Amino acid sequence: MDSSQPIGMFDSGVGGLTVASAIKQILPNEQVIYFGDTAHLPYGDKSRDSVIHYSKRISDFLLEQNSKVILIACNTASAAAYDHIKQYVGERAIVINVIDPVVEFISEKFPGSKTGVIGTKGTIHSGTYQLKLKEKDPTCQITSLATPMFVPMIEEGFIFDDISNAIIRSYLGKPELKNIENLILGCTHYPIIKNQIKKFFNFSVEVIDSASIVAGYVQKILSEKQLLNQGKKGENQFFVSDYTEYFEKIAKVFFEEKINLKLLDLWK
Ligand code: DGL
Repeated sequence: MDSSQPIGMFDSGVGGLTVASAIKQILPNEQVIYFGDTAHLPYGDKSRDSVIHYSKRISDFLLEQNSKVILIACNTASAAAYDHIKQYVGERAIVINVIDPVVEFISEKFPGSKTGVIGTKGTIHSGTYQLKLKEKDPTCQITSLATPMFVPMIEEGFIFDDISNAIIRSYLGKPELKNIENLILGCTHYPIIKNQIKKFFNFSVEVIDSASIVAGYVQKILSEKQLLNQGKKGENQFFVSDYTEYFEKIAKVFFEEKINLKLLDLWK
C-alpha cells in the first residue's frame, strides 16, 4: 500500500456523504472515491445476506480503484457485512466500519453511562452496538430503538418543519430513550437532524454524531501506518448505482458542497 492511494468508501446512498464531508474537513489532502448504492437503498430493510452481497461487489470496485482504505460509511452495512468484508479484503486494503470508532469513543469518554442508540431496523435488530458496547464497557447501560422513518423523512427534505418535528417527537419520546445521558446517531443520515434531536432533549443529552469520530479514526489509523497522503491529491469521485437529479440535489445537503454524481451500475 502507498500513501497516494485513495480512500474508498460506500453507503446505501447519500447518507455516507456526511462521513465523506467530515473526511474532507479533517483530511483535506486525501482523495475520496465514494460509491452510493442508490439502486438498492434502503439497506436498513434488506436481509443481512443481501447487504453482504452488495457490500462485497462494491468492495471489489473500490479495490479496482486502488483504495488503501475501504470505509463502510453505513451503519447497516457495518453491522451486517464488516466481518465478511474484512476477511474478504484481507491485506489488500484497511477495512474500517462506522460502529467500532463510536463504541471506542463512548467507552473511553463516558464509561458506565446510560446510552441510547437509534438506527435502521437492520442496525438495531442486529444488536451490534449493544454487543460491542457491552464488550468494551460492561458497566454501561444501553437501550436501542429502530427509527426507520428518519431516512425517508430526511431524503424527502422534511428536516425543519411540522412533519419532521412530529416524527422526531414520536420516536424520541419512547420509553426506550427515557433518562439516557448519551444518544448515538447510529445511521449516517441522522447528522442532518442532529440539532433538532438535541433540541428535543433540551440540550441535556450528549448527541453523538459518528461522522467526525470516524473521520478522526481514519486519520489516526493512516497516521499510525504512515499512509497519510503527502503528495498531490487526486480528484474526489462520486459514483451511484442509480442516478436521478434528485439524488444529486440532496447529495449537496449531505456533502455541504455541490458534487457531480457519476452513474455506475456494478450489477449490469
Ligand atoms: N445510511 C444508512 C445507515 O447508516 C441507512 C440508510 C439505509 O437504510 O439504506 O445505516
